[in-house]
Amino acid sequence: MTKARSTMFICQQCGKESLKWLGRCPDCDGWNTFEETVVKTPTRSGPARPVDQSALCELSQIAAAESPRLVPPFAEFQRVLGGGVVPGSLVLISGDPGIGKSTLLLQVAAGVAGQGGNVVYVSGEESSHQTRMRADRLQISGRGLYLLTETDVEVILEQMEALSPSLGIIDSIQTTHLSGLEGAPGSISQVRECTLRLMQWAKASGVPLLISGHVTKEGGIAGPKVLEHIVDVVLHLEGESFSTYRVLRGAKNRFGSTNEVGVFEMRDTGLAEVDNPSQVFLSQRPERAVGSAVVATMEGTRPVLVEIQALTNVTSFGLPRRTANGVDLNRLLLIAAVLSRRAGLQLSNQDIIVNVTGGLKVREPSADLGVALAIASSFSNRETDPHTVVLGEIGLSGEVRSVSHIERRLAEAARLGFTRCLGPKTSLEGVTPPRGMELTGVTWLREALRSSLRTRAGPEE
Ligand code: TYD
Ligand code: MG
Repeated sequence: MTKARSTMFICQQCGKESLKWLGRCPDCDGWNTFEETVVKTPTRSGPARPVDQSALCELSQIAAAESPRLVPPFAEFQRVLGGGVVPGSLVLISGDPGIGKSTLLLQVAAGVAGQGGNVVYVSGEESSHQTRMRADRLQISGRGLYLLTETDVEVILEQMEALSPSLGIIDSIQTTHLSGLEGAPGSISQVRECTLRLMQWAKASGVPLLISGHVTKEGGIAGPKVLEHIVDVVLHLEGESFSTYRVLRGAKNRFGSTNEVGVFEMRDTGLAEVDNPSQVFLSQRPERAVGSAVVATMEGTRPVLVEIQALTNVTSFGLPRRTANGVDLNRLLLIAAVLSRRAGLQLSNQDIIVNVTGGLKVREPSADLGVALAIASSFSNRETDPHTVVLGEIGLSGEVRSVSHIERRLAEAARLGFTRCLGPKTSLEGVTPPRGMELTGVTWLREALRSSLRTRAGPEE
């Protein structure tokens, strides 16, 4: 008789199962895709799913869950969650090590405990003593907040079961393990099975769980991409370690819209909300600058104004370099190519550096025209108008294409004192400008450059 096995090797690409590890999948030809996985969950686990899900039920007959969402502190956090934490949901907060996940989670825990709930904070990374020191720094009293230093998921769940808290926090998923499963904590199979187990428990008990997870070098959450499929909500905490600003971005949300962001500032006393991000991101902008343009980018439903800076410099050795901080490199390559071919800028012997100030990442093509203008401004050593906000996507023919949510962007720019908007004619036509704002619609990139680059700046300092 063969020995009963509880683990199996499964190809992460195509799902082929094998009893032993294989370097190459015979089905999909993927290399190094086999991972050890639990086939039968360890004996101590609870019911696989809530019982009433196993019978057919007409949708209209199912009572909509009316249980209110748990409202955490921080309006910014609520916004990203789409209103609050849904009972029984599993929320993953991911980010680079040291970005502030533990700080955020502890502050959220304290806030919920302060509202009268019980919160269990499980730390697999820090001792209770260390967490206490952090709490002192964050000026958290700790009433209603229960600490547990444990990494075994079954023990964690037993403890949670006993207290039945209003919120459970596990910091971090990479430190947890299931005793029935081989592999060190943090290995792909452990991370996935632990998450599955936590998910089952959350769904069965109705207690929402927040878990933190580190990001690997490539930007994925350590562990399989599958992890993101399992959980209900994925939030990324981003920011440059040198900058004090942190952006919490929704990447997946089963209960609300994604692409909402919350902006925080890391202070001595923990994370604080930033109510007016545009003002913050523009605060250090010089009045008269070469190679600078302000764009209004949509972060979810909210417009945020950021400054884009560019510097061009004659290549001194080898191939010209393009460096993009905060904008997509491919987008920068496209814009540089269009500037060369359609606007006649000789950039082929120029290094180009583009930077978004404040450490924010701009993902929208609507910032294209701003990037192009900043590059052209630096290249020609001409100033841009500091009171102009620039909008527009750039097409390969050198056309300026329309952008969405134009009214909201204009309103935000007007609020911050901008008096002119340079943007796509198609979007600006028929729009009533906010008071005190002049609209300049353009169809071509060339036109945009001609109308915005001002007199040549003096010698560079
Ligand atoms: P932490 O929450 O431990 O990061 P993570 O859990 O994502 O690894 O944050 C650590 C960083 O935050 C550390 O560099 C110090 C900084 N920090 C502050 O600036 N102020 C504070 O009040 C706290 C608690 C941390
Ligand atoms: Mg941590």
